[in-house]
Amino acid sequence: MSLDPAFVPILPRTAGATPEGHLTIGGCDAVDLAREFGTPLYVFDEVELREGCREWLGEFRSRHDETTVTYAAKAYLGRALARLMAEEGLGLDVASGGELAIACAAEFPMERVYFHGNNKSAQELWEGLAAGVGHVVIDNFHEAVLLNDAAGDLKRRQPVLLRVSPNIDPHTHEYITTGALDSKFGIAIATGQAEEAVLSLMASPGLELVGLHAHIGSQIFETEPHQQACRTVLEFAARMKERHGFTLQVLSAGGGFAIQYLRDAPAPARAVYAEAIVSAVKEGCTAHGLPLPRLTVEPGRSLAGRAGVALYGVGARKEIPGVRTYVTVDGGMADNIRPALYGAAYEALVANRLEGGTSERVTIAGKYCESGDVLIRDADLPRLWAGDILAIPGAGAYCLSMASNYNGSLKPAVLFVKDGQARLVRRRETYDDLMRCDV
Ligand code: LLP
Repeated sequence: MSLDPAFVPILPRTAGATPEGHLTIGGCDAVDLAREFGTPLYVFDEVELREGCREWLGEFRSRHDETTVTYAAKAYLGRALARLMAEEGLGLDVASGGELAIACAAEFPMERVYFHGNNKSAQELWEGLAAGVGHVVIDNFHEAVLLNDAAGDLKRRQPVLLRVSPNIDPHTHEYITTGALDSKFGIAIATGQAEEAVLSLMASPGLELVGLHAHIGSQIFETEPHQQACRTVLEFAARMKERHGFTLQVLSAGGGFAIQYLRDAPAPARAVYAEAIVSAVKEGCTAHGLPLPRLTVEPGRSLAGRAGVALYGVGARKEIPGVRTYVTVDGGMADNIRPALYGAAYEALVANRLEGGTSERVTIAGKYCESGDVLIRDADLPRLWAGDILAIPGAGAYCLSMASNYNGSLKPAVLFVKDGQARLVRRRETYDDLMRCDV
């Protein structure tokens, strides 16, 4: 049998179906994976990950050769993924000493690392310098002083970008909007503070200000806000050149590219974003007489999201006549807090019965002690029975990386699948893991 075509764009590209109607990913039967490794289980399609990297690189470099594609590790990071990104020639955006430590452990090429974060500690900045990260992205005056001192002690000159806030509304969820004037991220252009920061960084002997960064939000379906951000930053760069002799060598346009989570909500193709950004950068540079800078983009969700599928075991069912039917799975907000936190919507498939059958409207609830622990409200699915395996696509980004041990839950195992082979890259936690740090 074949997959419902409506699911094709939201499942990894290698997804398929067995003759008996089981979902396959990377040539592996999802039902077998669930049986062997237990549920909840996160399965990453290696082909989807690698092809995504190649597509982003291709779309940008065919338009502007001097582009670095940097994976935003916050979407999900483990050593296996860091190694894959390194092999594909990507850079890495880390947002903490912890993400940096994982990158180091994976022997990720440090010159390709951009160290982000809106409150990097002195310790973290030391770690970044010691590791030899390519760029530190300065988000505030405080850390600029800390980094300059640390670099001075090491007799180093650390290349930095300044994160500016361009005051742009990207029309996405309020919680994932980052480029507005009222934001904890970046230094505002509009208030004149970004100019002060440029001056202060240019005067810091331990720092070399090589460029500017703006990231305006996440899951942005429109291209116009990205273009507007580039225009605003270039206009600012031109002003800084004129007034202070600043040279923009690197422009980091951040990430934020949307993916398709729902059957009826397609996202723009990678080529569309690349075209919009590169054209805005080229036009902006021409308009202001600036040489074309090296461009950096930082997709997170749009690299990891579609590659990951979450598998859950179906358990209890609760029918409240005339109100709602709850079907509960063995995971929920501890492994995917996005529905509870942002009202994020997902689709689901029954991985062991793709042929479907009569459908009914149910609410897929998680197993945690919180009424908001609902993964999908009003899903139209075939009648579910205990023991069924429910697959939720689009689970590769911001699920595992935001996972918790709420209710003493164990973080799930993670697999990479390819050519019919499954590789365990993270084992399921055990009860002992829950107490590992108890002293
Ligand atoms: N660059 C910077 C500086 C960022 O802060 C982020 C995401 C990215 C790149 C990557 O953005 P992406 O391409 O993944 O949209 N937890 C939220 C998303 C938070 C995004 C935070 N920053 C969610 O689950 O939707």
